[in-house]
Amino acid sequence: MEENKNYHIIAISGSLREESYNTMALKTAQKVAPPNIIVEQISIKEVPFYNEDLYKKDFPPLVNELVAKIKSADGVLIVSPEYNYSIPGVLKNAIDMFSRHPDKPFDSKAVAIMGASTGLFGTARMQYHLRQVMVFLNAWTVNRPEIMIGQAKDKFDANGNLTDSKATEMIRQLLISLAGLSELISKK
Ligand code: FNR
Repeated sequence: MEENKNYHIIAISGSLREESYNTMALKTAQKVAPPNIIVEQISIKEVPFYNEDLYKKDFPPLVNELVAKIKSADGVLIVSPEYNYSIPGVLKNAIDMFSRHPDKPFDSKAVAIMGASTGLFGTARMQYHLRQVMVFLNAWTVNRPEIMIGQAKDKFDANGNLTDSKATEMIRQLLISLAGLSELISKK
């Protein structure tokens, strides 16, 4: 990462839940980001189900807008729960929709993944499925740090603040790694 350059990161939560631990973790990233890394959250709540009959040519205006945001960003941060050992349907659907858009927003894009779950393994299985999806999209995923916030019920306070200081510092490091990877990609 270059200290004197600004990096614009688009962040997506894989949970639509009001009190989502993953959205809380995303907001932690916004709070702890170095001053030159701007983390903008986008919502996938209104992305319709992908149907190739309907969306092969004309994508919904919201999808065009979200794709444009991802395309022009320096990187993408995905913060997601694990559902049944894998990627939540809403997130997978949004990625599938974006991936069929002619602008190919994930192609050669730097992507960081993290997640929180109430289980012990903190979304580890979801993260490896998501990394596999990113291979097909030709995205570049950040290898380290891997942030898997297990037993999330005990890691956030009533105001949604992450109380685990080690995880908080790792989130800051993840953003720095993401900006660094985007820098590498831009030079290739
Ligand atoms: C879960 N949860 C869960 N947790 C986990 O560690 N591994 C899993 O495979 C699953 N599977 C799963 C499936 C479905 C359909 C739901 C609704 C939940 C529990 C999950 O970690 C918990 O609900 C989190 O709070 C979800 O994240 P948000 O919504 O708080 O961000």
